Amino acid sequence: MKVDVVLGLQWGDEGKGKVVDVLTPNYEVIARFQGGPNAGHSLEFNDSKFVLHTIPSGIFHDTINVIGNGVVIDPVILSEEIEQLESTGADLTNKLVISKKAHLILPTHRILDAASEAAKGKDKIGSTLKGIGPTYMDKTGRNGLRIGDTIAPSYMQKYDALKQKHLSLLKHYDFQFDVAEYEQKWFAAIENLKRFKFIDSEHVINQYLKDEKTILAEGAQGALLDIDFGSYPFVTSSNTICAGACTGLGIAPTRIGEVYGIFKAYCTRVGSGPFPTELEDEVGEEIRKIGREFGATTGRPRRTGWLDLVALKYAVMLNGVTGFIMTKADVLDTFDSIKVAVRYKVRGEEVDYTPYEIDEPIEPVYKEFKGWKTDISNSKSYDELPVELKDYIKFIEEETGVPIKIVSVGPDREATIVRSL
Ligand code: GDP
Ligand code: IMO
Ligand code: MG
Repeated sequence: MKVDVVLGLQWGDEGKGKVVDVLTPNYEVIARFQGGPNAGHSLEFNDSKFVLHTIPSGIFHDTINVIGNGVVIDPVILSEEIEQLESTGADLTNKLVISKKAHLILPTHRILDAASEAAKGKDKIGSTLKGIGPTYMDKTGRNGLRIGDTIAPSYMQKYDALKQKHLSLLKHYDFQFDVAEYEQKWFAAIENLKRFKFIDSEHVINQYLKDEKTILAEGAQGALLDIDFGSYPFVTSSNTICAGACTGLGIAPTRIGEVYGIFKAYCTRVGSGPFPTELEDEVGEEIRKIGREFGATTGRPRRTGWLDLVALKYAVMLNGVTGFIMTKADVLDTFDSIKVAVRYKVRGEEVDYTPYEIDEPIEPVYKEFKGWKTDISNSKSYDELPVELKDYIKFIEEETGVPIKIVSVGPDREATIVRSL
């Protein structure tokens, strides 16, 4: 058996939550492999809307949902998510399991995140301020606290040692904070989480594979926010690309099956950093308004722009994408014309890659398409889609060499056209 992977190919918010929910009936296990509560994955069905931050997006089906070792957990946020879902009558006790090796976001990690962002001033990353960077720093710095540690006798000693280290670091910042209130909720949340199984997830997942169980790995953020390959330093602190599914779950590279890469029919980005096709005009505003492009975690307005094929091809290369899932084509229904960046002009020369120097001014070279000017949100089959949209899809497929297997035409589970899987 192989593990299929679903991940975002842009700067996040491509619709991973919706897509994982749609694909889940084909799988017995859904496993989230990286990121933390910086993620906001939205799901809509039966007139209800949910936003998940840490819980895998397969939770609304009869599946096992694994929070993998590559994920970082804020127990307060995870407990609130669980409470919200269980208030609808669901019982997650036997559906959700957590890797013992997943690192914990301490209250002081959140404070360090806020203090270091504040100190950066105009150079700030635009972090979600959930403590992601400092937690992964402690993980790679070999100082971190893992959820499995909370059931060992040395738990409080380890917690205090890490907290003290953070408090001494915080002395270097001119930053006011109060840790006590959040800390109280944090310890209560840890106790709440102990009714879930903390597992050796790499063994469990590999056993599932031996037992021929079908597994889908769920990414967070997007390829262009990857710590190694994103627009550093305007990135998140984990490997968001397919390789992250191997390290974040403990599966061998040879075990990767299909790699489904999700992209919006246009682009968005939250936070700072280069965005070559950004539209800071009324067209961009229109996309934001129609696409309801406001952060699912922070509520911040998302920056908007045209689809960027240079960046998309880069993401395809890094991830070995075997099939595309295109979302939010419906958002472009009313536009007269739609543009796609096919190359960049850098220092007067046309190139098909992103320059290393992130300050380098980039002028996108666009190909323009005729808009389809048709409401596609109720379309049920590929054949029903307007010819202009099919031309747009065909062009993307030809340029990238990757087939578009699913076209999503609305936020609801039902608004999904599956061409092939
Ligand atoms: P994620 O982080 O990748 O899971 O994406 P988010 O949930 O943060 O953002 C995607 C937003 O687009 C959510 O509000 C979804 O409900 C919505 N969405 C997903 N697919 C579609 C689609 O095909 N069309 C429209 N109009 N909205 C969509
Ligand atoms: P999902 O899973 C969009 C962005 C932040 C910031 C940068 C670093 O919903 O697609 P961090 O909190 O990791 O220190 O922030 O990354 N970012 C996201 N943008 N969607 C996300 O997740 C994101 N998670 C982080 O806005 O620019
Ligand atoms: Mg999101």
